[in-house]
Amino acid sequence: MYSFKDLVVQFSERFASAHFDSEPASLYDPCNYFLTIGGKRIRPILCLMGNELFNEIDKDAFHLATAIELFHNFTLIHDDIMDAAALRRGMETIHTKYNNSTAILAGDVMMIKSYEYINKMNGPYLQKILRIFNTTAKEVCEGQQLDMDFEQKEVVTLDQYIQMITLKTSVLLAASLEMGAIIGGASEGNCRHLYEFGKNLGIAFQIQDDYLDAFGDPEKFGKEVGGDIRQNKKTFLLLHTLEVAPEEQRAQLFQLMKDQSSDKVQKVLAIYKACGVDAWANTLKEHYLNTALKHLDDIAVVSSRKLPLKELANFLIQRDV
Ligand code: IPE
Ligand code: IPE
Ligand code: MG
Ligand code: MG
Ligand code: MG
Repeated sequence: MYSFKDLVVQFSERFASAHFDSEPASLYDPCNYFLTIGGKRIRPILCLMGNELFNEIDKDAFHLATAIELFHNFTLIHDDIMDAAALRRGMETIHTKYNNSTAILAGDVMMIKSYEYINKMNGPYLQKILRIFNTTAKEVCEGQQLDMDFEQKEVVTLDQYIQMITLKTSVLLAASLEMGAIIGGASEGNCRHLYEFGKNLGIAFQIQDDYLDAFGDPEKFGKEVGGDIRQNKKTFLLLHTLEVAPEEQRAQLFQLMKDQSSDKVQKVLAIYKACGVDAWANTLKEHYLNTALKHLDDIAVVSSRKLPLKELANFLIQRDV
């Protein structure tokens, strides 16, 4: 069994090869720029791990892993326009470095490239995988729309937040594992548990992302800290604080959401801290991690094969990158 580190090396060697034509450079340079500034490569590795849980890693799994990483990068490029984010992976976002039109097109062409890699697969499962891939892609759009809709709402429930992050983030992690497992010949029952493992892990992963957006070290995290606060994102940090804060701080938070002054982020962070969001973040992450691990336990393969996934799960929810 390969560890996350081994698989990142194997995947990166293949992924580094050129994906795009050279002309027009005004479109393809930005694409190449974005793919070379970093990224943890979690989703393609999940696809390879899902495959290796049941079988030796197939060439098709590498094609699919490449498709998944390209698709993920496409969503990030568009997400950064939507979130007005200037920084990603410690570098300028495409719409900042170039312009919005280029970022829209770079995202579009990257998504189409992603489907070209799916089309390179040879196994008999192509249609099934395409179905899962497309369902997942639509769900990501739905989640991203909910995320934008929630910016305009004063109140969002924890259930609505969990549904939104499930769609925008966790289903892609879940589907990456499941599609890898399908290539490995896994049974339907095993696929279902692996999907649920990925879905719950993905929820914990987005909870950590939301936590780091407020409290991460920008040098490591590579994004502008407080971006979610500036955009009035309805993260669990805000929902929890609105629930437990004394009336005065609640009123202050609602006022701050109408405000775009330069010290908004600092003020909101201070209220978050005073309301114990650290402990709540841990409680939430642990809940979803434990549910994920129960599903991993229920997969009918010897437990030693599950170790790389367990290790990766623990890293993902503790990470500071
Ligand atoms: C960022 O995903 C978008 C989220 C769903 C939180 P990653 O944290 O996996 O981003 P990269 O690819 O490693 O930069
Ligand atoms: C993005 O969520 C999810 C997708 C790109 C589909 P975020 O907006 O929180 O991701 P980051 O923090 O910008 O990476
Ligand atoms: Mg974003
Ligand atoms: Mg976003
Ligand atoms: Mg985020």
